[in-house]
Amino acid sequence: HIMKEFSGISSLEMELTNKLGIKGCIIVPGNADESEWVKSELGKMGAEQLSKIVQPKQTISVTGGTTIASVAEALPENLKNKELLFVPARGGIGADLQYQANSLCQIMAKKTAGDYMVLYVPDQVTKELYHSFINDSSIREVLLKIKSSDVVIHGIGDAITMAKRRNTSQFEMDILLEQQAVAEAFGYYFDENGKEVNKVNTIGLQLEDLQHIPHIIAIAGGVSKAKAIKAYMKIAPKNTILVTDESAAKLILKG
Ligand code: BG6
Repeated sequence: HIMKEFSGISSLEMELTNKLGIKGCIIVPGNADESEWVKSELGKMGAEQLSKIVQPKQTISVTGGTTIASVAEALPENLKNKELLFVPARGGIGADLQYQANSLCQIMAKKTAGDYMVLYVPDQVTKELYHSFINDSSIREVLLKIKSSDVVIHGIGDAITMAKRRNTSQFEMDILLEQQAVAEAFGYYFDENGKEVNKVNTIGLQLEDLQHIPHIIAIAGGVSKAKAIKAYMKIAPKNTILVTDESAAKLILKG
């Protein structure tokens, strides 16, 4: 903490927390777009927040992505044997198994000698499939756990980057471009005012579910995500704690 005060990061954290009107901000030095170690630091700080918050036997829902993967990587020893349950906030996305919420839950459970559940559904489904999926009893069981979880750990993405990762159709891509989507979180796309402009039909955590979850940790950094973070934070629940990096923080504070 002495180092933080010395580098001015503590005051940056306070300034950002005030600007965004959320519960708190943790800022790591650097720019996650440029160096992998910054992403590792984001992961470490995210993991540290979790270990401060979580109580034995609690349920934690997690999204996928490379940033949350670095949280999984960094989970500390003191979380061991707390009998934590990790549930995926969402189904699969793209072909990259490594970064899916399902896989990250498994890694987190292994690291903490806890438990996990799997959501065997694609990330986006058609309306018809959606209804048959949510009526399946094993899927329902996971959904109930997700909706009643004690902590959510999630990433935030740049809208177009995430739409590409999802192989979004040209039709929907045009909507995003036309509506000037800049942010993506939980399958929802937002413009710079935090207005929802599109949403993929996902099975799993919905934005409204966040209202009932006591602890929310959002982790995202890098110059390329500054706009996205700023936009999403306009509608983020007030109990959100943001873990970000200096490059994004400075850009958010500038505008
Ligand atoms: C995921 C979220 O956790 O992370 C997405 O579900 C978000 O909403 C994505 O956009 C960002 O991924 P990455 O790889 O940039 O951390």
